[in-house]
Amino acid sequence: MIRLLHVFKQFRPGMYALEDVNLRLEKGEFAFLTGPSGAGKTTLLRLLLREEKPTRGQVLIQGKSIVNLPAGKIPYLRRNIGVVFQDFKLLPRKTVFENIAFVLEIVGIVGLAQRTRTREVIRDLGLYDQRNAYPEELSGGEKQRTAIARAIVNRPAILLADEPTGNLDPDLSRDILQLFKSIHLFGTTVLVATHDLELIRSFPRRVIRLDGGRLVADTDTLDRRSVPLSI
Ligand SMILES: Nc1ncnc2c1ncn2[C@@H]1O[C@H](COP(=O)(O)OP(=O)(O)O)[C@@H](O)[C@H]1O
Ligand SMILES: [Mg+2]
Repeated sequence: MIRLLHVFKQFRPGMYALEDVNLRLEKGEFAFLTGPSGAGKTTLLRLLLREEKPTRGQVLIQGKSIVNLPAGKIPYLRRNIGVVFQDFKLLPRKTVFENIAFVLEIVGIVGLAQRTRTREVIRDLGLYDQRNAYPEELSGGEKQRTAIARAIVNRPAILLADEPTGNLDPDLSRDILQLFKSIHLFGTTVLVATHDLELIRSFPRRVIRLDGGRLVADTDTLDRRSVPLSI
């Protein structure tokens, strides 16, 4: 589903944001990506979205290399990937309902199907009372849930989250993790970048640890699936 082969990413000479990273995530797997600030977590997620290209190495999604994907094909790649960013990136002039429905419009789901699916996800995420509110009127937790609703409304094959519980109180963090678990139960491959060890402890799953751009630990390393393959 997701595969990195000898991936290097260099933003400036002499400094690697990612250095020889090999990783394999199976369809339907749930993994945490952890490590201190500056370890390369966000960079790795951005490579999967083709917001950045590796300096060297291969990135494969669903068996296909995305490194040299033509610009015109990038939107198709991103349709398969739901993303929750740390700063939410909600559209300020759109309501909660519109922020979510907009994602479906982009992929050509309009009319009744668009409204029905948007209502469903609004209900699932407990946002019914906020459906007509604008982002600036929402609390941190409500913004977070709107961002998650938007990431999953399209039922993506992959869900990436970058520090999704940053700045939230522990109760809300647990709720968000609960949502990720239920998304995962429907077969979505989930990768959550976080340095919140409490969060990881509360849901023991595969943990991939980066430090200084290197993959330094993977609780899955005893499993043959994570053995780096050479190309
Ligand atoms: N666009 C960029 N330009 C230059 N350096 C960058 C850029 N993005 C990330 N970096 C550097 O790459 C390293 C890894 O950053 P990042 O992936 O954001 O780490 P993390 O998300 O684990 O905190 C850091 O040293 C950071 O300064
Ligand atoms: Mg980061």
